[in-house]
Amino acid sequence: MLVLGIDTSCDDTSVAVYRADTGRVLSNVVSSQYEFHAPFGGVVPEVAARRHAEQIDAVFNAALKEAGVEPEELNLVATTNRPGLLPALLVGLTFGKGLSFRLGIPFKAVHHIEAHLLSPFIGREPPFPFIGLVVSGGHTVIVVAEKLGKYKVVGKTLDDAVGEAYDKVAKLLSLGYPGGPAIDRLYRSYRGELLKLPKPKVKGLDFSFSGIKTATRRLFEQGAPAVQVAASFQETAVDYLVEKLKKAVKEVGVKRVAVAGGVSANSLLREKLLALKEEEGIELHLAPLEFTSDNGAMVAYTGYLRFLLEGADPLTVGAQARSPIDEG
Ligand code: KG4
Ligand code: ZN
Repeated sequence: MLVLGIDTSCDDTSVAVYRADTGRVLSNVVSSQYEFHAPFGGVVPEVAARRHAEQIDAVFNAALKEAGVEPEELNLVATTNRPGLLPALLVGLTFGKGLSFRLGIPFKAVHHIEAHLLSPFIGREPPFPFIGLVVSGGHTVIVVAEKLGKYKVVGKTLDDAVGEAYDKVAKLLSLGYPGGPAIDRLYRSYRGELLKLPKPKVKGLDFSFSGIKTATRRLFEQGAPAVQVAASFQETAVDYLVEKLKKAVKEVGVKRVAVAGGVSANSLLREKLLALKEEEGIELHLAPLEFTSDNGAMVAYTGYLRFLLEGADPLTVGAQARSPIDEG
């Protein structure tokens, strides 16, 4: 069983080939558009769509070549159709549907956040139930995953996503786009004192990052060096994520945790999660580094699981810019 996974939801054109019977990812090709969006300090949807359209054929061909697979050998096409930047989503969706039609094989539309959520388990059965923390450029959610397709959002950001806050702070400090890796690197190189930033007092398991972002800006405007500002921001943002996750484990009473999404590549977050695992006796599943940011492998894997559960989708299925994970 060979599954093709396509993701063009944001600024990465990604295609992967997943061998479902062995649970192996045969190829996972990602073409990033960073340099095209860098001048704008964030992703421009129309620029992303144009670039996806230019790249998708080459990325598809590279993924098949690396996997050593001919198009006719594919058994299922899975493509992200929600949520994401609408013009960008449409490029992958149209390509995936066209391929499914041409090859006469089933098509499965995939929810991007579900794909991130399940990415720590690529290649095996997800061990339900678990608590999932998805942290990316567009999303910051804590989910109770009861079984495949049954997710309850117990915490979410009320304003910016954590990755978005990283990118905005990086823009303020002229560190380039995407901001996460740049800030993480500065944090690692910094040996000085960390400045205190107030943590937002949002009730329950919800998050807010706009206050942290504003306090960070103030520090910079008051003359603190960029490296100290970046490191202090990271310390606060990561602490805040881990505190909420710890609270979720206590409140929900499930000691199995999965953490995924672009920000889960963060070195300090991974370090603090490992400490939390020891401290609380948690079964921790981190997305493998290569599958933290947007990738076709998580889409192929999730599409395959959902295809087994509920069958294929019609080729009339559309794209949706917004779609909470607990509403389908
Ligand atoms: O999952 P992803 O590739 O795309 C979305 O679905 O949004 O996440 C991208 C986000 C960006 O905001 C980027 O700055 C952030 O993940 N990111 C990081 C790190 N690597 C990527 N944030 C913090 N630390 C990192 N090491
Ligand atoms: Zn993503």
